[in-house]
Amino acid sequence: MAPLLRFPKPFQEKLTAIRTISYTRRCVARRLRWLFRRPLPSSRRPSPRARRGAAKDSAFFRVCLADGLKFDTTSLGLRTKRVNTSSVAIRAQAAAVSAPTATPASPSGKKTVRTGNAIITGASSGLGLATAKALAESGKWHVIMACRDYLKTARAARAAGMPKGSYTIVHLDLASLDSVRQFVKNVRQLDMPIDVVVCNAAVYQPTAKEPSFTADGFEMSVGVNHLGHFLLARELLEDLKASDYPSKRLIIVGSITGNTNTLAGNVPPKANLGDLRGLAAGLNGVGSAAMIDGAEFDGAKAYKDSKVCNMLTMQEFHRRYHEETGVTFASLYPGCIATTGLFREHIPLFRLLFPPFQKYITKGYVSEEEAGKRLAQVVSEPSLTKSGVYWSWNKNSASFENQLSEEASDTEKARKVWELSEKLVGLA
Ligand SMILES: NC(=O)c1ccc[n+]([C@@H]2O[C@H](COP(=O)([O-])OP(=O)(O)OC[C@H]3O[C@@H](n4cnc5c(N)ncnc54)[C@H](OP(=O)(O)O)[C@@H]3O)[C@@H](O)[C@H]2O)c1
Repeated sequence: MAPLLRFPKPFQEKLTAIRTISYTRRCVARRLRWLFRRPLPSSRRPSPRARRGAAKDSAFFRVCLADGLKFDTTSLGLRTKRVNTSSVAIRAQAAAVSAPTATPASPSGKKTVRTGNAIITGASSGLGLATAKALAESGKWHVIMACRDYLKTARAARAAGMPKGSYTIVHLDLASLDSVRQFVKNVRQLDMPIDVVVCNAAVYQPTAKEPSFTADGFEMSVGVNHLGHFLLARELLEDLKASDYPSKRLIIVGSITGNTNTLAGNVPPKANLGDLRGLAAGLNGVGSAAMIDGAEFDGAKAYKDSKVCNMLTMQEFHRRYHEETGVTFASLYPGCIATTGLFREHIPLFRLLFPPFQKYITKGYVSEEEAGKRLAQVVSEPSLTKSGVYWSWNKNSASFENQLSEEASDTEKARKVWELSEKLVGLA
């Protein structure tokens, strides 16, 4: 369509010249501002924390955030090729997130508590992710998401809306003791104090006909849920001890299914560690059985047995180290979170019916969000500092100290599981 108003040619040329000059002036001004590093308007200026991180980052990514470039942790994760080696994963993430530092004194002159640092294993989904989100959103915690799949975790953190800079992803595969040791090294390189460790990750293989094994040859459920966490917790105890945080905690997630003093714990196959002969023989299914009690393999029972080991380990930690270290050791049953990926290996019909069954029949169902808040309480609530406790919640979502089953509170069994586990993971 022809323009409605057409200026005479000389006037038109003048207009174009004016536009060109003003464009050139804008370019020159921008260039000068860049050359002399004129500060950005405060709304566009990165926070001091981001600037500190940016200075560190620039060495790795050859970019400088102080110049106003925007850097997106999670989108970086998405753009990065699949990363399998822990050292690479940690470098990428460490470059994206700056370490939290002590909070400066408040106007009243009193020093406020600095940001706490909490490691959560299995934070890529379910309870672990919901807890990571609850802690990160409180603004009081920096979460180290210890996960085996970097990209899945980066996507999950972003989809959950976790604030940028509130988390670091570090590779951890609990099915490999080498990976656990490497994780500990990598976390130490982050140069952050470790204030809380949450052993949350788990596998559940209720339909498996044959056992599968970790890289070190242990039956998978006990290898990941118990032995991997046992080594991790033992290694990180030193770091917890060294932390100056007011309340240092080691939490090992338990389960009602390992407690035979409950209705759910009495659904067959029931947890039973027997005389520990399978664990003593290496749990490798070659020279010994794949089950702790030495019996035939049963995937559902292997999970329940691993949860008994988790709860026994927490109490043994408490007996051995609470007084000496001041660390609070705790376990919990967060409620039945029937929608998580834990049930991914179950038959489809079970996955379909289990959530409504828990919601409307047993009424034991809790959402991932609610369960995450519960675990976050065990991480940070000042009222939950008692050590050696197995926490549960009543119908009003109030926490209480729950009773463990006879086997899950057997001190002699706890000592034996501890000593056998030490041998299996190479600590004795
Ligand atoms: N769901 C419930 O009703 C319920 C009830 C009581 C207690 N719990 C406990 O809650 C905890 C979390 O379970 P959930 O229900 O949240 O299940 P989930 O969504 O399946 O979470 C399990 C997490 O463990 C991770 N994981 C599995 N194998 C791993 C390995 N080899 N190395 C590192 N991480 C590994 C998974 O990582 P990927 O994403 O890479 O698979 C995932 O992040 C478990 O300890 C479970 O026993 C659950």
